[in-house]
Amino acid sequence: MKPEQYDAWYATQRGAWIGGEEYRLLDSLLAPTPGETLLDVGCGTGYFTRRFAANLANGNVVGADIDPDMLRFADGHSDRSIGFVAADARQLPFRDKSFDLVVSVTALCFIQNEKQALSEMLRVARRRVVLGLLNRHSLLHFSKGRNGGLGAYRGARWHTHAEALRLFNGLPMCHAGLGTVIVMPGGKRWSRRLEPTLRRWLPGCGAFIAVAADVLQDQRP
Ligand SMILES: C[S@@+](CC[C@H](N)C(=O)[O-])C[C@H]1O[C@@H](n2cnc3c(N)ncnc32)[C@H](O)[C@@H]1O
Repeated sequence: MKPEQYDAWYATQRGAWIGGEEYRLLDSLLAPTPGETLLDVGCGTGYFTRRFAANLANGNVVGADIDPDMLRFADGHSDRSIGFVAADARQLPFRDKSFDLVVSVTALCFIQNEKQALSEMLRVARRRVVLGLLNRHSLLHFSKGRNGGLGAYRGARWHTHAEALRLFNGLPMCHAGLGTVIVMPGGKRWSRRLEPTLRRWLPGCGAFIAVAADVLQDQRP
């Protein structure tokens, strides 16, 4: 999909609602403090990178992506203070513990060898890693995720809660939170209104899972 087309979706009524709900969940799990630094892995057109940067006064925010077209778009539509870097998530060109926060939004689900990508995110993170994933136990999976996926979901890997949590197994990290949003993915006015109630009735059935884990600090003297 062309970056212009991808980013334009966030300006539609449905896209703005979904993007806003996802951002709020990610932000609550990141719990950033002013001045913290953040890396957005698989940043695409930079929609979330720009929102994170707006919330991190004086922080150093960088987006990384493997697709040069996505990066060109992101760079051309973002404030100069945000850096954009061409990088493969499985081999990030940053030193250990370069960023306080590392976030990756619906990118890991398109990356082969997700364990390696996650290890790299952990390597460059000082405090917390937050992943945005697609929930296999959701209405969105039923409508867009089956048989290889439709449209922008083609080729995506969908996770269950348990699988999302298991991603951190064997890594020096401790669980810091999990949430889901977008129970009714159609985005119509009535479903948007019902969303908070549905989230209480059907906890864990939102199409977007965000899971957070903290980097275990080295206890050696
Ligand atoms: C569905 S898009 C998500 C973009 C953005 N995070 C968002 O939520 O709007 C997935 C992104 O992951 C990027 N990507 C896929 N494989 C990658 C890899 N190995 N390393 C870095 N980025 C990758 C793609 O180029 C694409 O921009």
